[in-house]
Formats: sequence, C-alpha cells, structure tokens
Amino acid sequence: MEIPNKLRPLVGFLERLDGRATLDELQGLLESLDVTRDDLEPFCVFSESGYKRNRVAHSAWYDLIVLCWRSGQGSHIHDHAGSACSFKVIEGVVTETGFSLIEDQGTDGKLVEPTLSRDFPAGSVCVAADGDIHQVVNRQGEGRDLVTVHVYSPLLEMTTYELAPYVRLAGGGSGRFVEVHPSGRTVRSGLVGR
Ligand SMILES: [Fe+2]
Repeated sequence: MEIPNKLRPLVGFLERLDGRATLDELQGLLESLDVTRDDLEPFCVFSESGYKRNRVAHSAWYDLIVLCWRSGQGSHIHDHAGSACSFKVIEGVVTETGFSLIEDQGTDGKLVEPTLSRDFPAGSVCVAADGDIHQVVNRQGEGRDLVTVHVYSPLLEMTTYELAPYVRLAGGGSGRFVEVHPSGRTVRSGLVGR
C-alpha cells in the first residue's frame, strides 16, 4: 500500500536511521506529526475481534504502525524488550495503565500490579522506555473509536505479563477479608460484601 503523503516526512527520517532512535527523537517526530484519521487511510482498518495493527513501513531500526481500537479493545500488559516505544493519539482517548513487577514472587517473574492510570486525549504523545510495563486500552463508550500512530525503534519484541491474582485469605462468617498478592504483601482488606 502507498504511504500516505502526510506520513512521508516521518518515514523519510525513519528510513535514514542506522541505529536506535532516542526517546527525544521519537517524541519530537510525533509531536510535529499533523495528521487526521482521514489522512491515514487506507491504514485505518479495524477488527471486531481485537485491536488491529496496520503496519505502514519498517526496517531493522524502526516499525511504524497505525493501531485501530474499537471501544473496549486493549493491548496485553507488555514491555518493550529493547525497543523505544512512542505513540500519538490521532482520534479518541487512550487510557494507559502502568504496572510494576512484583518482587520475590517465586514464579516465572511475570506477575505485575497496576501503579498508575492516565488518559491521553487526541494530540497527545506518549513515550515509553524499553523496560516500562504498560497496557493501552480504549475505555471510551460504545461506538467511540481510537486511532493511534506508533513508532518503535528498533523493531519491537515485547514481553507480556499477567495481572497478579488477589488471594482471599479470610472471609465468610468473620465479616472481614484480607487479600494479598503472591508476594505476601497485603493489598486489600475490608468488609465482606462491600
Ligand atoms: Fe507499548
């Protein structure tokens, strides 16, 4: 497919990369990117079974992808395993949740807990380093699409994680419960039924 005119300067820069782009470079490139959803046709393709990645161009040193998300669709919890990751919100609102790895979990080291959640409206640029663990979701209401342009450098090989299950230790007749992460750290307590 032909590269949309408005993406040509960005692709031109990325094609000249002979190493990994810095986070500052990626942020600057996306901040200066002035495109609408219409400009990104024919790469605005959605799927009803999950968010859709529409690759525009790539080399060993970058991957340029238009991601299309219907309401309720979201990514896995993932990091960027050696790649800088950046995206710009073209239409809609991104909800990005950050996670931290649970220490001493005695498992394969893939359990995480949420740390913060932020909304990025259209026009926002978000940059994540390779070790950051996050999840991107379209939490907008029914019928509201999300379109984002992502640049990874170099090509992305992500690691995915699982949300740590809460383990309920007490409850029933006592009227109170305590829930802990596998690390043994208490994270919730309260009255049963509340
Ligand atoms: Fe990501």
